[in-house]
Amino acid sequence: MPMLDEINGRALKPLITEQQISRRVHELGQEITRDYKGKSPLMLGILKGGFIFLADLVRQIGLEVEIDFLRVSSYRESDSPGEIELLQDTNISLKERDVILVEDLLDTGGTLGFIREIVLSREPSSFKICAFIDKRERREIEIKADYLGFEIEEGFIVGYGTDYAEKGRNLPGIYVLD
Ligand code: PRP
Repeated sequence: MPMLDEINGRALKPLITEQQISRRVHELGQEITRDYKGKSPLMLGILKGGFIFLADLVRQIGLEVEIDFLRVSSYRESDSPGEIELLQDTNISLKERDVILVEDLLDTGGTLGFIREIVLSREPSSFKICAFIDKRERREIEIKADYLGFEIEEGFIVGYGTDYAEKGRNLPGIYVLD
């Protein structure tokens, strides 16, 4: 387990433990297994943040699933928030598939709002969003997770896939930066 108590001089305060995460991921996996009985959903992880959650989640799902990833530019690094770009697409056809987008963090909603348009334009039979953390307070785009791990108050979180300046993604729990 990585021993990290600060990143770039900011202290890390534990928020969600590894045990709480694994219990919740197990529950979400069971829920998806029940809801998609007899189907073979296509799980699309959003890079980079979603890679750990997706890896844990699919191992709690008792169905045949297909897995792929999308990658979008981080608009936080640009001065023009409207301009999100698709950096890596899937080559799997989404037409008539049961698509589940898997994301670590739903914050302003900009990223998922952008990806939702792309996915819906490809005519899947169904479309759902599975987000691990929801920070609803900062929402700018109307979007809701169909499957949700935890809802949290404001705060900059890191760990379990999410980063601060590209650090801390490998922390097994979720922390808040002081
Ligand atoms: C984070 C997170 C989501 C997005 C959510 O990604 O992984 O993709 O922010 O925020 P939003 O709801 O305000 O769009 P980030 O842009 O930091 O890129 P990363 O996944 O590569 O870390």
